[in-house]
Amino acid sequence: MRPITRLCAAFILSSGLLACSSTPSPAPDAAPEAAQPASKPASAPTTAKPDKGSKAFWDGVYDRQEYVYGVEPNVFFAEQLAKLPVGTVLLPAEGEGRNAVWAAKAGWSVEAFDISPVAKNKAMKLAADKGAEITYNVADFADPKLGEERFDAIGLVYAHMPPKVRDAGMKHLAAALKPGGVIILEGFSPAHIELETPFGPKSVEVLYTQELLRAALPGFEMLILEDAQIELDEGYHQGKAAVIRMVARKPQAKP
Ligand SMILES: C[S@@+](CC[C@H](N)C(=O)[O-])C[C@H]1O[C@@H](n2cnc3c(N)ncnc32)[C@H](O)[C@@H]1O
Repeated sequence: MRPITRLCAAFILSSGLLACSSTPSPAPDAAPEAAQPASKPASAPTTAKPDKGSKAFWDGVYDRQEYVYGVEPNVFFAEQLAKLPVGTVLLPAEGEGRNAVWAAKAGWSVEAFDISPVAKNKAMKLAADKGAEITYNVADFADPKLGEERFDAIGLVYAHMPPKVRDAGMKHLAAALKPGGVIILEGFSPAHIELETPFGPKSVEVLYTQELLRAALPGFEMLILEDAQIELDEGYHQGKAAVIRMVARKPQAKP
């Protein structure tokens, strides 16, 4: 049985939400990665669910003992990072720390950040359990205050953001990468919506396309930039997925 079904008796409601009979807090719903605009009526009760994509939303997703996306790294990220000489790596929107902890155990000096302090606490627990050392900050993707030319690699794993946040954040990430450094990305593409899975964003604006990534990273050399249909087996992400995979190298500094 796959991990998510071991976690709880999961079933899909007619609304498309995933419900879980054995967890006290709300399970991630059909699009936990999607940040969607607020649309509460003026009379909304104070007990209303937090807006998708908000800090409160993600705190609720992670407020359970289980690791929502598992404790093993994303396969593509791990494969690609393993090809690089060990150095410094940044994991933005890193959630519960599965990629950060794996990279630290592989010898990398790891910094991670996420908007959710609950995610940070779980990541630090995972690091302690596995004997890994990581630095983890609570920060917003739009302005993560990273400084310049600090990292040899950046791993963007299912980091789906609204366009304004994504565009601002990508500029900060590009600046924080050393010349010659690489960004490794795996994220859902618009084709994923057509698969009608219970996981993954349903809002096309937060999904990745090749065009979007080329435009967001001017001057970068696309070592890998492809659409792929893959089988995911990482906690809540279970089954067929349509994704973009990218490895992009920042140009070397001009002499
Ligand atoms: C689908 S999860 C992926 C988590 C992790 N990268 C992984 O693969 O396990 C998306 C993550 O984005 C984070 N996030 C959403 N909006 C954010 C923002 N504005 N700034 C930083 N992190 C954000 C969420 O808290 C969540 O951990």
